[in-house]
Amino acid sequence: MTADPQRWLWAVGALALWLALIAVIVWRERRARAAARARSDAFAGAGAGAGEGQAVLIAFASQTGFAEELAWMTARALSDGGVGARVVSFADLDVQTLKATDRALLIVSTTGEGDPPDSAARFVRKAMGETADLSGLRFGLLALGDRSYDQFCGFGHAVDGWLRRSGAEPLFDTVEVDNGEAGAVRHWQHQLNQITGSVTAPDWTPPAYDPWRLVERTLVNPGSPGGEAYHLAFEFVGAAPEWSAGDIAEVGLPERDGVTPGSREYSIASLPSDGRVEFLIRLMRHPDGAPGLASGWLTQDLALGGEIGMRLRTNRSFHGPADETPMILIGNGTGIAGLRAHLKARTAAGGAWLLFGERTQAHDAFFDAELQAWLASGVLRRLDRCFSRDPGDGRYVQDLVAAASDDLRDWVERGAAIYVCGSLEGMSQGVHAALENALGADVVLTMLEDGRYGRDVY
Ligand SMILES: Cc1cc2nc3c(=O)[nH]c(=O)nc-3n(C[C@H](O)[C@H](O)[C@H](O)COP(=O)(O)OP(=O)(O)OC[C@H]3O[C@@H](n4cnc5c(N)ncnc54)[C@H](O)[C@@H]3O)c2cc1C
Ligand SMILES: Cc1cc2nc3c(=O)[nH]c(=O)nc-3n(C[C@H](O)[C@H](O)[C@H](O)COP(=O)(O)O)c2cc1C
Repeated sequence: MTADPQRWLWAVGALALWLALIAVIVWRERRARAAARARSDAFAGAGAGAGEGQAVLIAFASQTGFAEELAWMTARALSDGGVGARVVSFADLDVQTLKATDRALLIVSTTGEGDPPDSAARFVRKAMGETADLSGLRFGLLALGDRSYDQFCGFGHAVDGWLRRSGAEPLFDTVEVDNGEAGAVRHWQHQLNQITGSVTAPDWTPPAYDPWRLVERTLVNPGSPGGEAYHLAFEFVGAAPEWSAGDIAEVGLPERDGVTPGSREYSIASLPSDGRVEFLIRLMRHPDGAPGLASGWLTQDLALGGEIGMRLRTNRSFHGPADETPMILIGNGTGIAGLRAHLKARTAAGGAWLLFGERTQAHDAFFDAELQAWLASGVLRRLDRCFSRDPGDGRYVQDLVAAASDDLRDWVERGAAIYVCGSLEGMSQGVHAALENALGADVVLTMLEDGRYGRDVY
């Protein structure tokens, strides 16, 4: 042990700084939870005097924010009809809460291949492994999904089956929503009217698209062996809304032959302070070479100055942590879009480490000048990139994760949060397996359950 008083002073100072940091993180977490509770209580209070007894519990399991949006709209519809409502995420739901509730509405999406959203991981592990006694509960379930996946509404059906096996009584048959289909949402709305006794449909159709103007479009990877990727910027026509790093834009497709082909989602690559919404969009091609509907239109057909309909959606599960928390950002291809928004929002306090994979260094080192500037400013503490088509490299981003196992463990032990953005197939599964190898499956699961491991993959 050292007797040098200066060393002791340094050690005590470092310890005090560390304790202060922990206190700030805990305080911020508590403040965020209290704000969510306050929002929820406002609805619970709204109907409390209406003689409806206990507030209806509204629980949402959401991966990209749509189920959460519908949960708040459901709460508003109930409270407008005089029925109190309390909104919780599956991340904060447990069996005790369900046991103590007489009516619940569950709004549940499916991700991956029939998988639960990440925020529901703890509930699945702790609650759904065995049946519970929920004989006092009546429930309604809105299952969000997409019929192009093999297991349509897979997690919604799993929740429905578990509730029924646990003795809960359905108020009505599960309402399935295929890709945001308006008719199914109207059916849900009708069921809400049965609960409130209201005869008029509340005005809660999903918010209309806002007009945005294309102001810039650049091909960022000319000569790449991969598909063309474009950096696009849109300005709001009017006063721009607020959004946060991690949020998603829903772009409405123009009508074709009298049919509205729906919408496509894109990770936002910029911040409100940029004054514009930016994307990195890959031109997709069908097997016959025809361009993808949305990516073809946005990157080829839409003229500069042209307007599109778009709305921005809060994607809370991919929002960044407190400034002081270090971030490990992992992604491939256009996945750098969502990670770039986080880098823009970062300060040097927590800093970030980016692990990124693409095809060639010469053509696909997306946003290279910005990354170098963030390295110089200290926002980016470390940058690991690999290029699968470069002779002498040939690695994928999961190989970078595997090679950096020791340092990753060190960052995670120091409180870092992990954010993954990009391809669902290949990349996100490979990265998940590499993280499990590096950190241990239990640590990875706990991080997922605690919201310290977020994924925006598609
Ligand atoms: C949360 C989220 C974030 C996203 N972020 C981004 C992003 O930042 N950047 C980005 O580029 N993309 C992103 N995407 C993907 C994007 O939403 C679109 O899926 C993508 O642009 C392709 O849409 P498209 O309309 O051009 O293609 P579509 O016309 O819908 O076709 C998509 C692909 O499906 C296949 N396909 C479709 N129809 C057929 C058929 N009849 N036969 C055979 N194959 C077929 C083809 O391979 C085709 O390339 C994101 C998706 C999600 C869910
Ligand atoms: C990567 C990804 C995987 C998906 N997997 C499925 C699936 O297996 N089954 C399904 O019915 N829907 C699937 N969907 C569709 C979503 O459930 C649907 O888009 C839903 O509206 C998303 O709601 P959320 O934003 O609340 O997560 C998937 C969507 C994405 C982006």
